[in-house]
Amino acid sequence: LAVIELDISKVTPGQCLSVKWRGKPLFVKYRTQSDIALEARTPLSSLKDPETPEQRTIKPQWLVVIGICTHLGCVPVPNSGDWAGGFYCPCHGSHFDNVGRARKGPAPTNLVVPPYKFLTDTLLLVG
Ligand code: FES
Repeated sequence: LAVIELDISKVTPGQCLSVKWRGKPLFVKYRTQSDIALEARTPLSSLKDPETPEQRTIKPQWLVVIGICTHLGCVPVPNSGDWAGGFYCPCHGSHFDNVGRARKGPAPTNLVVPPYKFLTDTLLLVG
């Protein structure tokens, strides 16, 4: 399906929903208050693909990204790796933070944010 509606009302803080969108994995991560606070403190100068959390999210508690590593296309593991609440790609050891930014390892760029919007507080439209 080109466009999907996702009910996120059952996703709990810290949880990462994984669904398929256009044949690709899509992650919807409910960022905790500590996830948000942690990445609010990260200086842009420490990032290889500098983007602020605000540039990557519509609502700070919801991260929506395509679950494909920007190195060679493996599927990263949510809530894993060296960054709390982040993502880890076991293929060659790329770590992404809880807002999906490349932090360590060979991935050159951040996880991709697809086009999406909120239809209601708990209903997302992706695509
Ligand atoms: Fe993810 Fe290489 S494909 S680190």
